[in-house]
Amino acid sequence: MRSRITTFLAPLVGLLSAVKAIQLDLNSQDSIKSATSTIAYDMMTYYSGNQSGQTPGLLPGPCDSTACYYWWEAGAMFGSLVNYWQYTGDDSYNPVVSQALAFQIGPDQNYNPPNQSKNMGVDDQAFWAFSAMDAAEANFPEPGGDTPSWLAIAQAVFNFQADLWDTATCGGGMRWQVFSFNAGYNLKNTISNGGNFQLAARLARYTGNQTYADWAEQMWDWMAGSPLFQYQGDTLYIWDNTNVDNNCSDVAHFAWTYNYGTMLVGAAYMYNFTNGSEPWGTRINQILNGAFGLFFPADYGGNIMTEFQCEPASNCNNDQSSFKAYLSRWMAVTALLVPYTADQIMPKLQASAAGAAQQCTGGDNGRMCGRRWYSNWDGTSGVGQQMQALSVIGATQINSGIAPKSVDTGGVSKSDPGAGTDVNTSPVVTHSPITTKDKAGAGVLTVLAICFVVGGSIWIIM
Ligand SMILES: *[C@@H]1O[C@H](CO)[C@@H](O)[C@H](O)[C@H]1NC(C)=O
Ligand SMILES: *[C@@H]1O[C@H](CO)[C@@H](O)[C@H](O)[C@H]1NC(C)=O
Ligand SMILES: *[C@@H]1O[C@H](CO)[C@@H](O)[C@H](O)[C@H]1NC(C)=O
Ligand SMILES: *[C@@H]1O[C@H](CO)[C@@H](O)[C@H](O)[C@H]1NC(C)=O
Ligand SMILES: *[C@@H]1O[C@H](CO)[C@@H](O)[C@H](O)[C@H]1NC(C)=O
Ligand SMILES: *[C@@H]1O[C@H](CO)[C@@H](O)[C@H](O)[C@H]1NC(C)=O
Repeated sequence: MRSRITTFLAPLVGLLSAVKAIQLDLNSQDSIKSATSTIAYDMMTYYSGNQSGQTPGLLPGPCDSTACYYWWEAGAMFGSLVNYWQYTGDDSYNPVVSQALAFQIGPDQNYNPPNQSKNMGVDDQAFWAFSAMDAAEANFPEPGGDTPSWLAIAQAVFNFQADLWDTATCGGGMRWQVFSFNAGYNLKNTISNGGNFQLAARLARYTGNQTYADWAEQMWDWMAGSPLFQYQGDTLYIWDNTNVDNNCSDVAHFAWTYNYGTMLVGAAYMYNFTNGSEPWGTRINQILNGAFGLFFPADYGGNIMTEFQCEPASNCNNDQSSFKAYLSRWMAVTALLVPYTADQIMPKLQASAAGAAQQCTGGDNGRMCGRRWYSNWDGTSGVGQQMQALSVIGATQINSGIAPKSVDTGGVSKSDPGAGTDVNTSPVVTHSPITTKDKAGAGVLTVLAICFVVGGSIWIIM
């Protein structure tokens, strides 16, 4: 019944909003610049951290209510704006990005500011570090003054996280949370371990230092030996998290775009760093098979990216409403670093970009983006929705000129392998610990759709 009504109303909604909707012609650079400029502008209406009396780098919070964004998503947003500058040449947001990325490094210069102790997951920290790496790899103007280089900030995060390798349970890997007082400390999850893997791989390629590559290998091997990875023929399925309380003997069968994305792009950096050596090419193919099969459903034409665990049922939280931004950006980088994948990746980014643009018809201004790229505006809007549309439309603009730089290819961000190691990083707790409701629900609990595996086959139950 409900879907009939939706189908009946759909053409009307389309007509009413057509006037203000985002117009996008993927064959026109001007059209893409105009569309992404509008979407970025609307995204930044949520940000006031650069205004006097506000804290640079933070989106509205704290997260006791729904109208808030965790610290990590702000970090991710600034990285999306580094990419936006590369995709379009529009540098309007560069000062605000630079200010935020520099401000949130905190006293230890490694994205562990005391104000965020209650949010300090390995993954949260990794997303800020990715944005510092985006800046380094893009030759984004260096922060200058007393602030370390973009590269050194990312190295400081790597050094901090290296101490979190935990052999006491599950034979290695890292716990989700840095601090034991946070809910989720008992989990070892993909985005944290895979985030650290990506960071190590990017540092290896940028600096040429084999130590980072060895680390990335070690992380891959631990994940591959854990239930987080499940191989089936030529396909790799990547699940969300496993629990140290039972020594990682089972796994939560949730499939999210960003988990596939972080493993994909990390493998792509390793492929490129090793001049195309195996086993990285095989691994990339296996991840792509998993991601294409799950997140580009044939029901929507097979090329439109879909967060299938929460979009159809309309229960994505603010975190989940941004995940496709990362898979989009990381697929684009993969197409550059592993050139033979471009033929498979680009049609998917293009169809997804077209789908994203056509549903940006919501809100008071008539052009806010929702989550479902395969359908009309879904009635939601937010930072994640804008970021996802911005990233996928921008990602269609990649070209060899914006391939991630390294010290060998013109990257100028200064290396400091010992960054952050001469400081005491013990946490100063300034907030009460978050609850399971606040945080574990972000990645783990808030799903209606369930995936599970029976007899070696994957079943997706909606
Ligand atoms: C804050 O950044 C916005 C862009 O998002 C810019 O328009 C505005 O002028 C900035 N405000 C200040 C006080 O710098
Ligand atoms: C931490 O919070 C205080 C109080 O709101 C603020 O003055 C400071 O700038 C914040 N620091 C960071 C790194 O966010
Ligand atoms: C926990 O798992 C690791 C890795 O699989 C294994 O090496 C170790 O023996 C296990 N420990 C216990 C107590 O079962
Ligand atoms: C990749 O190729 C470069 C240039 O030929 C060479 O210097 C480097 O050692 C190679 N790296 C690996 C991991 O084989
Ligand atoms: C590594 O990436 C560069 C930049 O995109 C690309 O030109 C090169 O072909 C890649 N190397 C391999 C082995 O594919
Ligand atoms: C390579 O990275 C490791 C780990 O951070 C560091 O100890 C070492 O000094 C680095 N080597 C060089 C040549 O920079």
